Amino acid sequence: MTGSDRVAVERVAAAIAAARSITVLTGAGVSSASGIPTFRGEDGLWKKVRVETLATADAFENDPRLVWEWYDWRRSIIRDAQPNAAHHVLAAWARTRRATLITQNVDGLHERAGAERLIRLHGSIWHVRCWSRCPAGRADWLDERVPIGTLPPSCPHCGGMVRPAVIWFGEPLDQAVLDRARAAAACDVFLTVGTSAVVYPAAGLIPDAKVAGALVVEINPDATGTSHMADVTLRMKADEALTAIDELSDLR
Ligand code: OAD
Repeated sequence: MTGSDRVAVERVAAAIAAARSITVLTGAGVSSASGIPTFRGEDGLWKKVRVETLATADAFENDPRLVWEWYDWRRSIIRDAQPNAAHHVLAAWARTRRATLITQNVDGLHERAGAERLIRLHGSIWHVRCWSRCPAGRADWLDERVPIGTLPPSCPHCGGMVRPAVIWFGEPLDQAVLDRARAAAACDVFLTVGTSAVVYPAAGLIPDAKVAGALVVEINPDATGTSHMADVTLRMKADEALTAIDELSDLR
């Protein structure tokens, strides 16, 4: 850790120790140390495929099998991955400091680390939904099979297609979930960790926090779309930065 990183870690640790309310927005970079590829990083998923070819409702309608092959592949990587130190520190903060965690990740690793009160903005890769929303299959359900079976899987109620219960490009977020996230952005300390902050409305939580008067902390090895809004910037990996902050904030 550089000298300036150390100073920044100390500042964040002091703020965390003193805060009455802490909110953390996470993105794919938090799961990077668990071996799950990010979307836009060096080895990012979107560098190899075009968004429109896989993560849209149109793509699914055109080629549901191709889309499911991609999700099945991601599910197999995620199933074999373990939560890393970043997930564990955040789960501990949710428990002991009543921090609110908001994630764009669909991988379920925060939950597997025991995170409570998690706000999941983009759904879950482990949940599925009837494509035609038949009356009996209106609610999402859990299907953790890897591989999931014949592609595309079929709805047990109507026999139609099943889709991953994640938010695709062009689809709205659940309004109640977004409202909860926006309310949580009004806090004392807001950390944005491992996200490129280019996908909205999730990235909009960062200016929301800033306007509400939060100390905004960015943890990311690279600059992001909202770096200019951060009061403190830590150019470190999520697991290393959060572990260092946690150790120091515990001593206070
Ligand atoms: P991105 O792939 O866009 O960004 C990942 C960020 O993590 C980048 O800014 C990296 O610099 C950073 N990063 C990489 N390794 C890291 C590490 N070890 N520690 C900390 N940061 C690290 O992923 P998201 O911002 O999560 O949406 O992407 C947002 C949304 O775009 C996703 O939820 C997904 C995607 O399309 C949907 O599927 C709707």
